Amino acid sequence: MSSLYSHYEEENSSSNTAHLLNPEEFRRQGHMIIDFIADYYQNMEKYPVLSQVQPGYLAKLLPKSAPNIPEPIETILHDIQQYIIPGTTHWQSPNYFAYFLSSGSIAGFLGEVLSTGFNVVGFNWISSPAATELEFVTMDWLGQMLGLPQSFLFSGTGGGVIQGTTCEAILCTLVAARDQMLAKVGRENIGKLVFYGSDQTHCALLKAAKVAGLECKNFRAIKTMRSTAFQLSAESLRTTIRLDVEAGLSQLFFVPPSGQHQRLPLIQYGR
Ligand SMILES: Cc1ncc(COP(=O)(O)O)c(C=O)c1O
Repeated sequence: MSSLYSHYEEENSSSNTAHLLNPEEFRRQGHMIIDFIADYYQNMEKYPVLSQVQPGYLAKLLPKSAPNIPEPIETILHDIQQYIIPGTTHWQSPNYFAYFLSSGSIAGFLGEVLSTGFNVVGFNWISSPAATELEFVTMDWLGQMLGLPQSFLFSGTGGGVIQGTTCEAILCTLVAARDQMLAKVGRENIGKLVFYGSDQTHCALLKAAKVAGLECKNFRAIKTMRSTAFQLSAESLRTTIRLDVEAGLSQLFFVPPSGQHQRLPLIQYGR
């Protein structure tokens, strides 16, 4: 980084910026990065799975402001090895057993390289027909794999997109459900929309509810117990919903736990 490598002369910057879309330079640097990551996988088991750094370690190592001049890939890879890898918790390590399984794969990483390489802006069909149509086709594949009814698919009357994060996905579905319900009960009744989950439901739901303008007190966290493996009881859910119906509240949204985390809060599906 520039303050660490002040010997790196400004004269190098013009040749570096000329490399912005230079295919040969891309090939050279791309090979170096793939080699770097391949070495990382090869040596993964040598690293402590949990990063050993202390909070705030990185700001002490980095310059206080952004570098003025581009730096060579060699310097960048050196910095990553020295400063970033020690601050990484190695989710891909075979010794990693926290939170949930790593979702990475070589196929996934290389797919990202391919799609990033094209740098497509796919906001409508004409801006990149292949991107739009590939999304249609593959979203339908995913819908079929999940066993969704035809009405959820592009080839039916539905369709969908993959959101960037779980929080975004929850927010989008919550907003869609909210607007559908408000069209029936009237926008002035937003305070009467009740939503359900268990006391194991991820806090992402309440975060999304706040953004969507729902009342957090209207979240019903159905109690679960260790003795029943944190299952959400269909009977408790039914009783809670019945009380809300009697109180004149509108049932908006239910988040069924499906057991990805270390605890296994499974609902008794089908009941
Ligand atoms: C069940 C569940 N919901 C929501 C989230 C939030 O995910 P993100 O930070 O990707 O939005 C997570 C993250 O692990 C999760 O496991």
